[in-house]
Amino acid sequence: MTALDLIREKRDGGTHSDEAIEFLVGHASDGTIPDYQLAAWLMAVRLRGMSNAETTALTLAMAASGRQLDLSSIPGRKVDKHSTGGVGDKATLVVAPLVAAAGVPVAKLSGRALGHSGGTLDKLEAIPGFQVDLSTDRFVEQVRRVGIAIAGQTADMVPADRVFYALRDATATVDSVPLVASSVMSKKLAAGADAILLDVKCGSGAFIRTIADAEDLARALVALGTSAKRETIAYITDMEQPLGRAVGNALEVNEAIETLVGHGPPELEMLSLRLAEELLQLARHSGGNLKGHILDGSALRKFAQLIEAQGGDPKVTQDPSLLPAAPVQRPVMGVKAGIVSRADALEIALAGKSLGAGRDRKDAPIDLAVGVVLQKKIGDRVEAGEPLAIIHARTEAAAASVSNRVAAAFTISAEAAPRPLLLRRVTASGIERLDT
Ligand code: URA
Repeated sequence: MTALDLIREKRDGGTHSDEAIEFLVGHASDGTIPDYQLAAWLMAVRLRGMSNAETTALTLAMAASGRQLDLSSIPGRKVDKHSTGGVGDKATLVVAPLVAAAGVPVAKLSGRALGHSGGTLDKLEAIPGFQVDLSTDRFVEQVRRVGIAIAGQTADMVPADRVFYALRDATATVDSVPLVASSVMSKKLAAGADAILLDVKCGSGAFIRTIADAEDLARALVALGTSAKRETIAYITDMEQPLGRAVGNALEVNEAIETLVGHGPPELEMLSLRLAEELLQLARHSGGNLKGHILDGSALRKFAQLIEAQGGDPKVTQDPSLLPAAPVQRPVMGVKAGIVSRADALEIALAGKSLGAGRDRKDAPIDLAVGVVLQKKIGDRVEAGEPLAIIHARTEAAAASVSNRVAAAFTISAEAAPRPLLLRRVTASGIERLDT
């Protein structure tokens, strides 16, 4: 068996055996299949798809490509949360410390920016000194000692996802149900939590555009978790417009800190509290006043402890001006009065990416300070000459180059209602509608 055989098999619409998938994942992880062959195989999967059995085999092989953590020595049910990728999605930075502040251990493996979407690891690296590369021993020790750890895939943990993830980002092979499902669930299974909560993003700023496809992905994720004996629940949430207002790494950390002190955008706080509540239930934790952990400062203190444990400067939680800031801030004005009926998440993300907030090439550096902060969201009234968004850029020229794109992301109409954020809740027993 060779990589070329597998590229050909998938290109021609064939089905891989478990052995073939194990061969490919094993040699992707040890570096003996070159990137160009892996990229060709990923494109074949993107175009031809995979059966449920292939997706399961891929997920299990990826999870087993490095060490799989055993967290059983840490008391209590450990939980993990993951988003399938969106724009302005900083919910993990709020939910994880909130749940840990309530006493439930959080053991989370995250990813970097992927395609046009942001990544939790890049956001955390906007905090001066923050280290996302933890050894497995340090990861487990930190969950035990601090009650929370958020790290990236390493040569030790899920190395196959590290390889595929970076290649997918640079080869337009992100938006594939089997590739997203195996990437997410391999990390979740390897990190060892007992229960898993997934936020499947749906809409222009997500990799999945339609509710039917989002339901397919959510069902696939829940089935993978359930068959691996981890209680798994998925929410499907709206991603037609960015979550919250800030899009860009340091800008999003700042907004997460505002939310952890109770002054964040209401929809981000609502989603964070809902996901945190679900995690407490998955952990069999008896209630707890989550909003109280925001109001009494304990959620923010837990975030500061996480930052300190991973080498970052915890003072950013008290003084967000310590985060990197872009020198240029340029407003984008509305030209007519009315109600915002569209604030296109993909267009805003692409504007942020061309400012430098994302990568076009594997391992390229990104500018952690730049991005876009929305001043208006769908359903908001806007007057002519009022700002729709503020561009945070490195130079005036960079700001000017995306200004039309940001303006074009908005549509102003005579009327428009705010969009529902929570769309579905998917468990092993079925799908519940939340948007009626
Ligand atoms: N998050 C991941 O970890 N992988 C994906 O493919 C998408 C989101």
